[in-house]
Amino acid sequence: MARITKAVFPVAGLGTRFLPATKAMPKELLPIIDKPIIQYAVEEAVAAGITDLIFVTGRNKRAVGDHFDANLELENQLTAKGKHALRDMVRNIVPEGVNCMFIRQPEPLGLGHAVLCAAPAVGDKPFAVLLADDLMKGAVLPTQALVDAHERTGGTILSVAEVALEDVKKYGIVAPGNRTESGLWEVRRVVEKPEPAQSPSRLASFGRYVFDAEVFDILRRLKPGAGGEIQLADAIDDLAGRGRVMAIENPSKRYDCGDKFGYLEAILDFALADPEYGAPFARLIKERLADQEPVEPTPKLTGTG
Ligand code: G1P
Repeated sequence: MARITKAVFPVAGLGTRFLPATKAMPKELLPIIDKPIIQYAVEEAVAAGITDLIFVTGRNKRAVGDHFDANLELENQLTAKGKHALRDMVRNIVPEGVNCMFIRQPEPLGLGHAVLCAAPAVGDKPFAVLLADDLMKGAVLPTQALVDAHERTGGTILSVAEVALEDVKKYGIVAPGNRTESGLWEVRRVVEKPEPAQSPSRLASFGRYVFDAEVFDILRRLKPGAGGEIQLADAIDDLAGRGRVMAIENPSKRYDCGDKFGYLEAILDFALADPEYGAPFARLIKERLADQEPVEPTPKLTGTG
């Protein structure tokens, strides 16, 4: 199977949960310390061998384009100040040989519609989709796992992980079938944001996918689903009914950066893992926690071991 080289980044969402920060700034540029969340997704794709990055943007998203464009004035200023490492870092946000394309989604008609807007740039090749809100951290990231699996099997593949039953209503939930020797599940159905009582399982699909171009035909025919939007999950469900969908376990830790608490958790973990700030930051947290009113003292255990 041909290796995947194209990735679609739907970045048209409004980010209302982060207002007022997102009034004038795209939510995808919210930083985890010093790097915007969309750049993490781009780096994950590039590390998996993707060379064509297709951004589907909406109103107020011009800054996403600027972030991935050259900024010669800034580079020249950094050169003049002798800040060569910083200049090279800014220059290499998009590495050599990687191309960016920007397509405007004219109306916010749903995630499925956003992906369909990328069809002219994708053509008939298989492609990955990354939702930047889902930030991944780990030695192996899901796009790599998906691209590798697609090379073996083709078809649509989802990145999944188990969630608590009360959380199924936040995700596309898969009804898994058999598990293959290579650890992939067959997917029989996908239900977008089910109530716990109706959920086919606790296996949630996170914002990483690979598709064959056949998904575009389905998206073109699809009627609006939940929330009156063209849902990507409905197209995946249609493909699943024809035995065209597999799922692979997400090999990394995932942070929901579309949510304030998930975003805070990501900042905490990335800061603690930072080679420069990690240790002093951990000390600071310990100090702050020690300053707080003590909670219930831990009872002393006696007579054990
Ligand atoms: C989207 C998808 C959903 C998926 C989720 C992952 O939902 O529609 O199937 O499980 O991303 O984060 P959203 O979070 O955009 O509402």
